Amino acid sequence: MKALEGVKILDFTHVQSGPTCTQLLAWFGADVIKVERPGVGDITRGQLQDIPGVDSLYFTMLNHNKRSITLDTKNPQGKKVLEELVKVCDVMVENFAPGALERMGFSWERVQQLNPRIILASIKGFGPGPYEDCKVYENVAQCTGGAASTTGFRDGPPLVTGAQIGDSGTGLHLALGIVAALYQRTKSGRGQRVTAAMQDGVLNLCRVKLRDQQRLAHGPLKEYSQYGEGIPFGDAVPRAGNDSGGGQPGWILKCKGWETDPNAYIYFITQAPVWEQICDVIGKPEWKTDPDYAKPAARLPKLKHIFNTIEQWTMTKTKFEVMDLLNKYDIPCGPILSMKEILEEQSLRQTGTVVEVDHPTRGKYFSVGNPIKLSDSPTEVTRSPLLGEHTEEILRDVLRLSESQIREIKAAGALEEAPPRKAAAS
Ligand code: COA
Repeated sequence: MKALEGVKILDFTHVQSGPTCTQLLAWFGADVIKVERPGVGDITRGQLQDIPGVDSLYFTMLNHNKRSITLDTKNPQGKKVLEELVKVCDVMVENFAPGALERMGFSWERVQQLNPRIILASIKGFGPGPYEDCKVYENVAQCTGGAASTTGFRDGPPLVTGAQIGDSGTGLHLALGIVAALYQRTKSGRGQRVTAAMQDGVLNLCRVKLRDQQRLAHGPLKEYSQYGEGIPFGDAVPRAGNDSGGGQPGWILKCKGWETDPNAYIYFITQAPVWEQICDVIGKPEWKTDPDYAKPAARLPKLKHIFNTIEQWTMTKTKFEVMDLLNKYDIPCGPILSMKEILEEQSLRQTGTVVEVDHPTRGKYFSVGNPIKLSDSPTEVTRSPLLGEHTEEILRDVLRLSESQIREIKAAGALEEAPPRKAAAS
């Protein structure tokens, strides 16, 4: 048994945010039926293609363990099929632009009418308010959710991060909402509407920065290195470079080879309880008793000098040597790992966090497996579906349609790419 075995998900998602959510549900055992536009499918199938004519890694890495049905939901017969799917599924997930689902004829009222037990889960860029009608992609969410204004260096422009906190982050939030709604349904017997806005999801992940915004009213943020540099704070939380963001100061320091290797760095945390060990390791035993260095508060104004001194030591060793040495003394640190190094890391392969998947047209490729491990519900990652691979199977097995009913749907053009619309007369 898998944790979500028996749960049927009508997956009307595309691009990254929604597919992240439904992929997680599939990994927990749900039957995820991805509805795609005939002929085209999820737009990411054809985006950033590395092999011509083959589903992109963008698509394959976000749609494992799903089935694909192609359906023109703007065709009356196609719409009928979608209605039948709504009736038999437990959850419908979508992340279309605001209003698109309603234009298709699937308002929350209509969906509930069709199936009062269904959970309708949506991702939009913004919640209700001035921007609710806007289309949103990852970096827009990072900018409007507070991440960009607090990422980067104080003397540089705002920065977006490579971690897809707007898309994958919100997908993760939505998955939790769905599972909570499924649990509530076991008692209430009813479905409900679950929504997650990308701006909200990013802000949730930037919680500590909203904390700092309010601390600013009571004085400078002493753990930010700009404090030690004597640079006054403005009225908003500044970008903090590689400052730790928590109560234990940290910084990224150069290691041996940094001149040629862009990732020869380590994150070093001067955690207070291990300060004495740090002093010994870096060859500064006198700092243990010097009143200018012995206590955390005394160190705050000199963080730059302290980290520069530690860096003189880290630069004499590779990042892995530094990691090994510091771990002996419980000094928290982390080497900067490149994607290449992560891909080669055997322990991640052994835990299934990095998996190799075989695909009929692409061949073998690596992907990120399920980062959430359930002891009673292990995840097996299976390949993403080809476009429409399971159309007939779903019509037969999920909707229990007869061959003649399937022929009728086909004849109505509901499973085929709609002919291009005539250009409006000018
Ligand atoms: N059959 C027929 N039509 C279909 C269909 C199907 N199977 N599946 C989708 N469509 C239609 C939709 O009904 C919609 O048509 P309409 O605009 O005429 O009503 C259209 O395809 C495309 O929807 P839309 O969501 O507007 O796509 P887009 O490519 O223009 O926008 C996003 C993409 C991501 C910007 C937008 O979907 C969005 O803002 N989503 C919410 C936020 C989000 O998740 N963003 C991050 C994505 S990683």
